[in-house]
This record gives sequence, C-alpha cells and structure tokens, in this order.
Amino acid sequence: MERRKFIRSGCTFCLLGAAGMLLPMLESCGTTQKTAVYKTTVKDNKIEVPLSLFAQGTLQFVRAKGQYYDIAVQQHEDNTYTALLLRCTHMDNQLNVTGNGYRCNQHGSEFDKDGNVKKGPAEHALKQYNVTIDNDKLVITI
Ligand code: FES
Repeated sequence: MERRKFIRSGCTFCLLGAAGMLLPMLESCGTTQKTAVYKTTVKDNKIEVPLSLFAQGTLQFVRAKGQYYDIAVQQHEDNTYTALLLRCTHMDNQLNVTGNGYRCNQHGSEFDKDGNVKKGPAEHALKQYNVTIDNDKLVITI
C-alpha cells in the first residue's frame, strides 16, 4: 500500500472511531432540547405570554425578539409562576435544559429548577424576573 493511501485510510479509521466514542458521551450528558419556544417581543421592558400556553405543560420557554437569552417560565402547583433567564452566571453562556434543571455546556455548571447553583464553577443563582398576571396574560418584567 502506498504511504499516502495508508495515512489517508488510517486517518479515516481514527475519525470514525473518535465519532463512535463521542456520540454516546454526547447522549449521556443529559441535556434535552427545548421542545417549543414561544416567540414574542419586548414592549416597555415587559414580555407578555398567554396563560393558555401552560395548557401544553408547566414549563415553557420564551424568546423575545432582540434578546439573546431565552427565559424559562415555570408554572407551580399553587398557580404561581417563576421566570428564569437562561444565562449562565459564570460566563454568560446560554443554558440547556436537563430533566431536573439547567446545565451549562461551557464549563459544566448546573442549576436546579429554581435557578439555584447545584454545581459550579458558577457561584450565583440564575436571574429571576418579576412575574404578574394580567387577565389572561402573564407579564414578565425584564
Ligand atoms: S459559562 Fe457556564 S459554567 Fe462557565
């Protein structure tokens, strides 16, 4: 076998092997995609979300035009709501959703559903926005 062909086939083999090892690692990192994101706008520092959205589930994600980070809005059993900015408090990376909170893939910080730090290097809880209800709308003040 020619030297060039040998090196090329060897590199292909190594890449396939590395991909085969990385795929299970990616699957096991425990992050899930946000199933649906409600897209809206900001007006006078307020974001409005229809309460009917929570008929689809108690955790919803909101993306306001012009805002870099999504907001996770959780409906609680007592019909109160919390809105968390999905921005890592370590170095501002967008967070991913896990089964029981949020995870930053940049350096591995983890936050619980209430935004509290479960694992560093982040030291501060996620930013939580004030939420009010106005008739059939949830109003998030940013
Ligand atoms: S930016 Fe999130 S852990 Fe560093």
